[in-house]
Amino acid sequence: MKGIVLAGGSGSRLFPLTKITNKHLLPIYDRPMIYYPIQTLVDAGIRDILIVTGGRNSGDFLRLLGNGREFGLKHINYTCQEGEGGIADALALAEHFADGHRICVILGDNIIQGGIREAVARFRKQRSGAHILLKEVADPERFGVAEISGFKVRAIEEKPLRPKSNYAVTGVYLYDATVFEKVRSLTPSARGELEITDVNNAYIREDGLTYSFLDGWWTDAGTFDSLLRAANLVAQSAAETQTAAAGAAAALTLPAQ
Ligand code: DAU
Repeated sequence: MKGIVLAGGSGSRLFPLTKITNKHLLPIYDRPMIYYPIQTLVDAGIRDILIVTGGRNSGDFLRLLGNGREFGLKHINYTCQEGEGGIADALALAEHFADGHRICVILGDNIIQGGIREAVARFRKQRSGAHILLKEVADPERFGVAEISGFKVRAIEEKPLRPKSNYAVTGVYLYDATVFEKVRSLTPSARGELEITDVNNAYIREDGLTYSFLDGWWTDAGTFDSLLRAANLVAQSAAETQTAAAGAAAALTLPAQ
């Protein structure tokens, strides 16, 4: 399976932080935002990765990430979205890279505590279609919101005024090779973008969209509040890991009873 990180768009909700740099290069605690989705893919065993950059700062991604040595990769592929035609418009640029393989797409501003390894393994066994990851949230109106029934997703609404559930669609999408035909059939939404929710709804119409729930915390980082929350969650997890490691080391040095 190939991995795609979507890091285009203008980051207008973070202006003026994004006036002279790309949103995905901003810090989340001790690392640039883009590091987290790349690490999520690598931890799931995905090593063939394309980054869709955008805006005026595409060259900075190459300077920052190079060939991905920090992630144990041999190389990283890059392409660049012109304008900000939406998430599905950025995804369209990955067709050549995907080359008929299944893909795991992750949004460049999604920060995930746990892994996606299980979902990836599960999707490998699914014959066709797509798989998304959901998370119960208190503010579903900020996200794509899923209505589920049994193992299937029945409908997704993008940022509904009256959400039908609390299940946010996270920015991790597993697709079979038909995804690019679906992207080609899209028309721009009211906000002038090609919406990833419309891609997912195309899979629903074929009865082909399954889901699982994401373990641990999850957040996006595209607004001032969520950027701060992401940094705090990462810092807290780092502190917990350090405390656990110190406890384990202390236990090892205790004399045997
Ligand atoms: O975070 C999950 C949510 O992400 C989903 O629940 C929504 O269904 C989905 O539409 C998306 O909502 P947002 O409004 O938060 O998406 P945003 O415009 O902030 O874009 C998220 C990432 O997608 C961004 O960090 C980079 C990538 N992107 C976005 C646009 C608009 C691109 O690569 N190109 C683009 O043109």
